[in-house]
Amino acid sequence: MRYLVTGGAGFIGSHVALTLLDAGHDVVILDNLSTGHRKAIPSGAQFEHIDLVDSSAVDRLVAQGPWDAVLHFAAISLVGASMAEPYHYLRQNTLTSLNLIDACTKYGVKRFVFSSTAALFGGVDRLPPIPDNALVDPGSPYGESKFFVERALLWADRIHGMKHACLRYFNAAGSDISGRLGEDHRPETHLIPLAIDAMLGRRPPLKLFGHDYPTPDGTCIRDYIHVADLADAHISVIDQICDRSVTYNLGNGKGYSNLEIIQSVERVSGRSVPWEWAARREGDPSVLTADFSRIHQETGWQPKINDIDTIVGSALRWRENHPNGYSD
Ligand code: UFG
Repeated sequence: MRYLVTGGAGFIGSHVALTLLDAGHDVVILDNLSTGHRKAIPSGAQFEHIDLVDSSAVDRLVAQGPWDAVLHFAAISLVGASMAEPYHYLRQNTLTSLNLIDACTKYGVKRFVFSSTAALFGGVDRLPPIPDNALVDPGSPYGESKFFVERALLWADRIHGMKHACLRYFNAAGSDISGRLGEDHRPETHLIPLAIDAMLGRRPPLKLFGHDYPTPDGTCIRDYIHVADLADAHISVIDQICDRSVTYNLGNGKGYSNLEIIQSVERVSGRSVPWEWAARREGDPSVLTADFSRIHQETGWQPKINDIDTIVGSALRWRENHPNGYSD
């Protein structure tokens, strides 16, 4: 099979591309390298240095099909930053996705897998875990931009018959278990890598955003899913969308508070994580955990890495071995 992967130099896109290559498929990666890393592009993938804003370049690449599926990861994806720059987020993620969807429908792509997000459910506090059919109410412009793309894909199905899978990731974490890839965001804003770096003394003490959320210990709760499990889910859905479109939640189904994540880093490393309280971060919902029963029932997929210490341990190993991330 031959796949086009946008954002394949980024954290999740590179892990999915690697899984596709490991399974013997051909992979072409499109990335503008604005947040991704050239060194994260798995060997064996063909790389096209293209910005999705450039509709002519996108058109030319998509025309070089046929593609068995297009997998779309490229996006700007920070909840907090999207509250500070709402129109930039809305414009960037929708415009780039529309350029791609437009080209895909023009050249007869049949299957499209979209990297969506649990941030679609961030606007109201609700009883976890969140089912696949939960009411969408984005808590940030980032979530809103992803929802717009889901809606655009609905029209691409109705009008052009392009089937899609919208995969609403909860908190992607961890690293390739064999250590080939890792997580290196610049700036890094995610809890697990920041806690690890604080523990390693590479950063100042971790700031814990908010202590008065309506949760047992007052800190936010998130559902961490190992990036290898996310990658497997992509493979599972590609077969699923030959004749219908689907939308699935992808998580582990279990939540951990921010304080529990610090404790996990301390357990796995045997060292303490320096941290201090800080004000809430705007746009952060208190609890996000997934009910992933629909994808399990329909494809048999379920997460294999259920233990938070294993997830944290894989992230820790990569960061220990790559003190400067992909700059090493
Ligand atoms: N946190 C801190 N201090 C930090 C960084 C994070 O306390 O320095 C807290 C956050 O406030 C939040 C939790 O740790 O309560 C998790 O934050 P992350 O930034 O690691 O992840 P988010 O839940 O904000 O967002 C991630 C992805 C989004 C995706 C979302 C879905 O970055 O793209 O998960 O759940 F939409």
